[in-house]
Amino acid sequence: MKKKNKKSDVKLKFSGGWEYAPAPESKDHIRLKEKYDLFINGKFTEPETGKYFASINPSTEAKLADVAEAGDKDVDKAVKAARVAYENVWSRMPAAERGKYIYRIARIMQERAREFAVIESMDGGKAIRESRDVDVPLAAAHFFYYAGWADKLDYALPGAKAKSLGVAGQIIPWNFPLLMAAWKIAPALATGNTVVLKPAETTPLTAMKLAEVIQEAGLPPGVVNIVTGAGATGAAIVNHPGINKVAFTGSTEVGKIIQKTLAGSDRKYTLELGGKAANIIFEDAAIDQAVEGIINGIFFNQGHVCCAGSRLFVQESVADKVVRKLKDRMETLIVGDPLDKNTDIGAINSKDQLEKIRKYIKIGVNEGGEMYQSSCSVPSKGFWCRPTLFTNVSQSSRVVQEEIFGPVLAVQTFRTVEEVIEKANNIPYGLSGGVWTDKGSKIFKVTSQIRAGVIWANTYNKFDPTSPFGGYKESGVGREGGLHGLIPYLQTV
Ligand code: NAI
Ligand code: MG
Repeated sequence: MKKKNKKSDVKLKFSGGWEYAPAPESKDHIRLKEKYDLFINGKFTEPETGKYFASINPSTEAKLADVAEAGDKDVDKAVKAARVAYENVWSRMPAAERGKYIYRIARIMQERAREFAVIESMDGGKAIRESRDVDVPLAAAHFFYYAGWADKLDYALPGAKAKSLGVAGQIIPWNFPLLMAAWKIAPALATGNTVVLKPAETTPLTAMKLAEVIQEAGLPPGVVNIVTGAGATGAAIVNHPGINKVAFTGSTEVGKIIQKTLAGSDRKYTLELGGKAANIIFEDAAIDQAVEGIINGIFFNQGHVCCAGSRLFVQESVADKVVRKLKDRMETLIVGDPLDKNTDIGAINSKDQLEKIRKYIKIGVNEGGEMYQSSCSVPSKGFWCRPTLFTNVSQSSRVVQEEIFGPVLAVQTFRTVEEVIEKANNIPYGLSGGVWTDKGSKIFKVTSQIRAGVIWANTYNKFDPTSPFGGYKESGVGREGGLHGLIPYLQTV
């Protein structure tokens, strides 16, 4: 018999969509300490600075834990521990043994997947649906994938003998905290390097949980060191002479500083920086499927995604229809408690990021753009932004040219394939893109002429550890993921 919805379970919203009763994911099973020290040489160690900073929950502004602030001396200790572990243990260990440790990390991470997902959503603000279904499984998949490469490096670079580099300094952002840690640590370990990793200051907690997993997996002390802090801690890693390779994901601005610091040295680097992806809908596309993909492409993870489809190009003949459908779909998106399983859009990661997004929305309006925001209510505490769309913008608008890193979509129209390729490329970035059409020939033409590292066809934001990721132009240098992701951690001898 069909169960009737109780009145209290489901109610009709005025806007025309359905409002669901709260379905929060349980927090009972998570274990968070009040204070996290630095993870150096296999142990949690108090910082020499004596300083700690708070990591908050951006959806409530409540403090979750205090986290150590690493200074130059702490970074030096971590780099030295990584060097000793590299020279004495990790680089000498048979590759298959290294692989076993990496598999162990992957398996423990899978066992603790629920805890990781809940902490990720609490510390960073992303919807539990995403941390549970995307971030955590993909992070484990990266460890599984690179574990497999550890004893097969001779096949990665046929004809060449590959050797590890030494100590890798790795600096990651706040948009995919655990996943970025996995992207960085897994290939470094598989190739025989040791690591000093710094998570972002607003989202350090899953990295500290990962440190616990690394301890539990029995990795030799010093192979992975995790130091917390803000930009100064990151700079201390980049400037340390004991670092052989820097892997950075974050803003183009900091990427440029790192590139300048390392210029002329023999230290290798990979930089994954900003983006301003174009999603292109042709009139022959499956429109409903495309609209769903556009929504996913820009509103996924509050638009805190370097490959977010933040520019939309719609062929003129279907523009009105697509914009109407987009607005309808935006109206049904649920913004709110990141731990609620119904939530589509969680909290903006920080107050600073929310201010940046608001500044751009103002700029868009002042430039003459027509703004549309969904009418949903948002909680009074915490950092929130409703899904936002701009029409009537031009190629020179700042909301079209600059990375906003929030749930803001700028829509333009086009008539011909040539025109849209030119417009899509007319940007300082080149990280990703998307094309929606029924015609294979158009897919080939567009994907071969758009200068971007990844282009999805009739889908968006699909990731796999076997597939390389990285940008052209100001979107970065080098590739992460897949076989390509091994190369930056190896030298040929
Ligand atoms: P950011 O680039 O300052 O932060 C990224 C990481 O770099 C953090 O761990 C930070 O502590 C560290 N860092 C900061 N200054 C550093 C320095 N001088 N040397 C070494 N490490 C340093 O990014 P932020 O300020 O958090 O965000 C600003 C904008 O950057 C965002 O609005 C967005 O547009 C972009 N961004 C892009 C990301 C991407 O995935 N490509 C990720 C995060 C931000
Ligand atoms: Mg936080």
